[in-house]
Amino acid sequence: MEQKQKYIVIAVTGSIACYKSCDLVRNLVKQGYPVQVILSSSAEKLVGKASFQALSQNKVLTSEWEDEMLHIDIKNHAAIFAVTPATANTIAKMAHGAADELISSTYLALQCPVIIAPSMNPNMYNHPSVQRNIATLQQDGVFVISPHEGEVVCGDSGRGKMAPIQDIEKTLTQIYEKGHLPN
Ligand SMILES: Cc1cc2nc3c(=O)[nH]c(=O)nc-3n(C[C@H](O)[C@H](O)[C@H](O)COP(=O)(O)O)c2cc1C
Repeated sequence: MEQKQKYIVIAVTGSIACYKSCDLVRNLVKQGYPVQVILSSSAEKLVGKASFQALSQNKVLTSEWEDEMLHIDIKNHAAIFAVTPATANTIAKMAHGAADELISSTYLALQCPVIIAPSMNPNMYNHPSVQRNIATLQQDGVFVISPHEGEVVCGDSGRGKMAPIQDIEKTLTQIYEKGHLPN
């Protein structure tokens, strides 16, 4: 990480909604917030690193092997850690303490507020295992920005669409200013 200041860390995982996080990053940077983006390898296939690098005006991180102890470096400079969008896969890893890539290992090391914005097909979202994992994360103190109802990209309808970017942005900036999750 380039500067020694507290960042809003945006961890982007491989949901079709990850293009929406480009706008989120742009809006936060325009308001003067320092933003550090991490992309999962699936997210990187959906939206290129170069886009997030240009929008965040910062190097985008993708792998633990880019630098020594990168997950610890990120945790030392994170004011908030937001997984937007959060896939069923990353939610499951966070709920179970897996740490097999940069986003999940960083999550386990964090001391700052953590937010997830789930985004997936409604059948996936309603699956008992996904609901159990989300409930586990809430018990662990993670703030969940619930998805909305509507039609998703594959044509199915129900709850699963990532919450609107404006809502996520408002939540993140409020937490950044207050330094803690809403009561
Ligand atoms: C085009 C495309 C769209 C996808 N959209 C979603 C999604 O919205 N939500 C989800 O949980 N998984 C989605 N997936 C599946 C994930 O990318 C897959 O589970 C992957 O392993 C997630 O890895 P990650 O959590 O490390 O990013 C999608 C896959 C593809 C190819």
